[in-house]
Amino acid sequence: MPAETSTEKIRVERKGAVAVFTIHRPEALNALSDELIAELLEKLEAADRDPEVRVHVLTGGPKVFAAGADIKGMANATAAEMNRKDPLGQWDRFSKLSKPLIAAVNGFALGGGCELAMNADLLIAGEDAVFGQPEILIGVMPGAGGTVRLPRLVGRLRAMELLLTGRRLPARVALEWGLVNAVVPSGQVLAEALRLASEIAAQPAEAVRQIKAAVREQLDMSVPQALPAERKRFYGLFDTADQKEGMAAFVEKRKPKFTGK
Ligand code: CAA
Repeated sequence: MPAETSTEKIRVERKGAVAVFTIHRPEALNALSDELIAELLEKLEAADRDPEVRVHVLTGGPKVFAAGADIKGMANATAAEMNRKDPLGQWDRFSKLSKPLIAAVNGFALGGGCELAMNADLLIAGEDAVFGQPEILIGVMPGAGGTVRLPRLVGRLRAMELLLTGRRLPARVALEWGLVNAVVPSGQVLAEALRLASEIAAQPAEAVRQIKAAVREQLDMSVPQALPAERKRFYGLFDTADQKEGMAAFVEKRKPKFTGK
């Protein structure tokens, strides 16, 4: 893969208990090189370990969230090279993040950009956002979860339409299809994502963690497996201070004061 001109492609900013990650590689429309994804993962994982951080927000530029994997970087690779290097293997680490990840998407989220957004637990899109898996148009198929996550989010038939034609999905239709949580005016995407993040950051931390883990885990389980696994997580929360506080506050008809313990 070609060397990049400057090293930092991911900007990180803390806003209270929310860590905001901005993809910044404007010269290539935020194309997701292996180095960029490695940097993003390292920074996300560091924030995931930081007890002060409760929620991650991932955003891109005002016109492009991310234009996909770096086509120029892989155009001449052979199948043997791709298999040996397994450049997309590192993407599996996104699903191991324990804290909620919110994607705030403006403009194009295509190919790997759409796949990256689909790794989020919640997705806020601007009115100008455009989603799609156009890999078919350049002779390949998605390799970072497009054929796996898209059908689970929008259903098999709609996913097939996007995957087999490479058509682009405007934000309003993405909302109707269940690919995004909300569509807001383009200038308000990050503000809306931060509002949502702050609301979640104020919830009892261990319950948030368990809910994310339960929802993620049960997607790979049958219902008879998933229900006892959920119960176990529910019972486990009875050793947290926030459970005692939350239920006591309800009984005493007052607002709970959660401590994250
Ligand atoms: N990889 C590398 N470079 C890219 C890129 C990508 N995915 N997308 C855009 N660029 C580069 C262009 O080559 C161009 O570079 P030069 O200035 O050196 O020519 C620059 O960014 C600007 O791009 P455009 O001139 O094409 O900008 P546009 O505004 O006319 O179009 C766009 C924007 C619709 C996003 C268009 O760039 C595009 O279609 N990009 C490719 C989208 C795509 O096919 N993504 C899938 C990639 S494969 C993948 O993601 C596999 C996977 O599953 C992980």
